[in-house]
Amino acid sequence: MCGIIGCVAEEPVAGILLEGLRRVEYRGYDSAGMATISGARLRVKKGAGRVVEIEERLGLSSLKGNIGIAHTRWATHGGVSDKNAHPHASCRESVAVIHNGIIENYLPLKKALTSKGHRFKSETDTEVIAHLIEAEYARVKDPLKATSAATKKLKGQYAIAVMFQDRPDVIVGARKDAPLIVGVGDGKMFLASDVLAFIEHTDRTIFLENFEVVELTRNGAKIVGPNGKEVRRKPTQVAWELSDISKTDYAHYTLKEINEQPQTVVGASVQEAGRVAEFAKMVKRAKSLFITASGTSYHAGLLMKFRLNKEAGLRCDVVVAGELREHAGFLGKGAAVVVLSQSGETADVMEAVKIAKKSGAKILSIVNAAGSSLARESDVVLLLNCGPEVGVAATKSFTAQVVVANLVVDAVLGKKRTNGFKELGEAVRVALETEKQILGLVKSYWDRPDFYFVARGYESPVAMEGALKLKELSYVHAEGMPASELKHGTLALIEKGTPVVVINPSGDAHADSLSSAEELKARGAEVIGVSDTNDSVYKHFVQVPKVQAKFMPIVEVIPLQLLAYHFAVARRNDPDYPRNLAKSVTVK
Ligand code: G6P
Repeated sequence: MCGIIGCVAEEPVAGILLEGLRRVEYRGYDSAGMATISGARLRVKKGAGRVVEIEERLGLSSLKGNIGIAHTRWATHGGVSDKNAHPHASCRESVAVIHNGIIENYLPLKKALTSKGHRFKSETDTEVIAHLIEAEYARVKDPLKATSAATKKLKGQYAIAVMFQDRPDVIVGARKDAPLIVGVGDGKMFLASDVLAFIEHTDRTIFLENFEVVELTRNGAKIVGPNGKEVRRKPTQVAWELSDISKTDYAHYTLKEINEQPQTVVGASVQEAGRVAEFAKMVKRAKSLFITASGTSYHAGLLMKFRLNKEAGLRCDVVVAGELREHAGFLGKGAAVVVLSQSGETADVMEAVKIAKKSGAKILSIVNAAGSSLARESDVVLLLNCGPEVGVAATKSFTAQVVVANLVVDAVLGKKRTNGFKELGEAVRVALETEKQILGLVKSYWDRPDFYFVARGYESPVAMEGALKLKELSYVHAEGMPASELKHGTLALIEKGTPVVVINPSGDAHADSLSSAEELKARGAEVIGVSDTNDSVYKHFVQVPKVQAKFMPIVEVIPLQLLAYHFAVARRNDPDYPRNLAKSVTVK
């Protein structure tokens, strides 16, 4: 949520910042802005809209100076408007701040500052930070100390970058419960919420911890811990490369990422020696076992639970991360929490981790971003290895999660290794060939107001994921549920022509799902079957290859991802940047 980038260099930075903004735009895209210092003047340009529109309107890239900060916003406090866009400047416009997070006590702070004569220009919580730092800076005359003193007064979550008009050599950053990292380049230093912001310039990164404050000059970074003492931390090299984040020939990142899945399902299967066994051992030993995640990752968690319950005989609960607090009574020493997250930064997820850790539970994570907060807070980490996922809607990270979850379950079951990834990669490639047929479905159904997805047993989460993808990308109302639940309410909504996708692989639940399909058809629904085997009940049939039962969700979800993507395109939505959403939701 909200993208931050700052850069101090030996050369003009506006172009570097603009490129960085484009790369972190997936974190929020309702407004954007930039501030630089040149000729002892701090200049700010900002406005509502996408980065490309603001660049066209205001010419962010024309800002002069070798130091600057820039921001893309996902609005929390204060509507989407030019004046609420970041950066925010203090009264005398001598301090500029960008912020990701929420300042929970901003109202009392604002009141106190107003009574001291500070005048506010926006409705945001962020602006109080600029005024607080300005006041502290007047007192201590030191950027790092002033920022440190100001942040001590903040309650909530923040990652901030700050510039001072009379210090054109310094950017200060601070974080609590929101991501902020340093990029160490040659003659340039970066501060950003995500490595993607500066990967073009450097892959050397320093991850900041909560309550640390950093002072960045073009020659280095000085990090100070909450006790005021300097912290020395060496940069680590991140594995992602620039080529991973280009769209290549695809119209959208989402389509590119859907098409990467024949490789990513194989990549996810390669884990560090012994790591899966260690993870599985802790799962088996846990006195009480939870799985937690948000959004799409939650659906992968549901799949994992199914096999752990049914095949391994392990009792475990899957809880959406934002609700784990309600289950805290069953956490504690001896408990283990499996946490799934693409970004490793989702605020609900990190809050769940905090609650679990506080209780003494172990954290076992399945995560894509290696240096993320989640990875760093975990006892054991398995990586998705699927490269950066830029499209806001999760696609390849979901199938990678299903692969890794299956590695763990197989290890819990005592299997020495999981086989069949080459065949799985090939099957995914075949599943992608359903695209032509999907385009036909889009032509028939793109203007329908409602869509339903149903399945039974292990495939039920696939139905939920199909509905979630369609909602996110096309803005069409969609529901996904176990087919058995239809008759308990949803059947009342089925009319002549209502499209219903039935995910129904051959196997135990096949006959029951066919009965559900018949019941739907009898009430006028147009049933779209997604299966390895056809049946006359389906008006349309999307054939997916037959793979091992545990991997069927992977091949079944591919046509559903394509359906959502092409729906979005047909409805003239931008599939990479769905309205009101953001990829990395770092606010609660
Ligand atoms: C956001 C994204 C979803 C994603 C969810 C969880 O809502 O839009 O696509 O599934 O966050 O993200 P995570 O990074 O924790 O997997």
